[in-house]
Amino acid sequence: MKTRLLSTAFTTVFAAALLAAAPGAFAQNTGKVKVGLMLPATGTFAALGTAIENGFRLYVAERGGKLGGREVEFVRVDDESDPAKATDNVNKLVKRDNVDVLVGTVHSGVAMAMARVAKETGTVLIVPNAGADAVTGPMCAVNIFRSSFSNWQPGYAMGDVMAKRGHKKVVTITWKYAAGDESVKGFKEAFEKGGGTVVKELSLPFPNVEFQALLTEIAATKPDAVYTFFAGGGAVKFVKDYAAAGLKKNIPLYGAGFLTDGTLEAQGADAEGLMTTLHYADSLGTPRDGAFRLAYAKSYKLQPDVYAVQGYDAAQMLAVGLEAVKGDLSRKADFAAALQKARIDSPRGAFSLSKSNNPVQDIYLRQVSGKENKIVSVASKALSDPGRGCKL
Ligand code: PHB
Repeated sequence: MKTRLLSTAFTTVFAAALLAAAPGAFAQNTGKVKVGLMLPATGTFAALGTAIENGFRLYVAERGGKLGGREVEFVRVDDESDPAKATDNVNKLVKRDNVDVLVGTVHSGVAMAMARVAKETGTVLIVPNAGADAVTGPMCAVNIFRSSFSNWQPGYAMGDVMAKRGHKKVVTITWKYAAGDESVKGFKEAFEKGGGTVVKELSLPFPNVEFQALLTEIAATKPDAVYTFFAGGGAVKFVKDYAAAGLKKNIPLYGAGFLTDGTLEAQGADAEGLMTTLHYADSLGTPRDGAFRLAYAKSYKLQPDVYAVQGYDAAQMLAVGLEAVKGDLSRKADFAAALQKARIDSPRGAFSLSKSNNPVQDIYLRQVSGKENKIVSVASKALSDPGRGCKL
């Protein structure tokens, strides 16, 4: 009896001493931090997934492989940009692989499934591309962050630009899914405010690239200009088909900047002169961007694009949060507060997060010249997504 009492007392004292010496030692701040990277490795967005992962890994490497004092370990899943497989894929990462953090993805439909699981389980999610308005709108949560943009942002900026350039009647064309629909909706909101009219909204299912019938319809409608959202392999084909159909010289083509980002090698002369809006450009000329571009080119023998920047910044955001909680991800409120306060030193220009955790950022008007999206002007200064429907 005496021995048992003594040993209980000893255990208690011992445990208390350990806790005092290293607060949180029994929580989740030791060992490696497991990052679940859910990105497309196949399909029309494969190159985008690679650029995001490259950017993320570059920042981690610049920090000696550690964020917030913890070594970073990756678990990867190819989500194929397939919303039908998304819930299973994200559940595998959270429940089987026990990741500490989710990073993903490119496709808005897949990202919404990730946000649902992140919200249910409280897992930190950083979205390094997908613009689904809902992620920082009705689905927003204190543990869900975006390092990229909302679909509304580049669309809204371009609506303003095109109205000011004097276009009155515009046809829109995009893939029929959240990203395309929301990009067009943002565009329309600003374009109509500026006095323009969207005369026809054309779409085809994601990721189809049979554009011919729709291009014929554009030719027959004869609008002043066209606004589009396409990205990745689909953007390459659309720009080439638009030129081949003889439309480029008669009906100016504009887009959210994904139309010409990471795609210029493949688009060649067919992209020359195209104007787009995005939160990044190839010719910012700042020391911060110059250093990033050099480091990226050295590591990967490739030029970076907007996706690489978003991946890099997702890692920076994770670092800010982890440093604030000294690696202890159970301190969720402190992690969230640190990100709300932070200014992220992005190659695109420093940004902060809105109340719903979406970047408040400059949207640039760019024009393709050779192999670069050259900056023309700042189309919208410090543009903040309205975060409609977010209650935090
Ligand atoms: C999206 O689905 O939200 C999406 C995909 C590719 C892009 C941009 C947005 O380049």
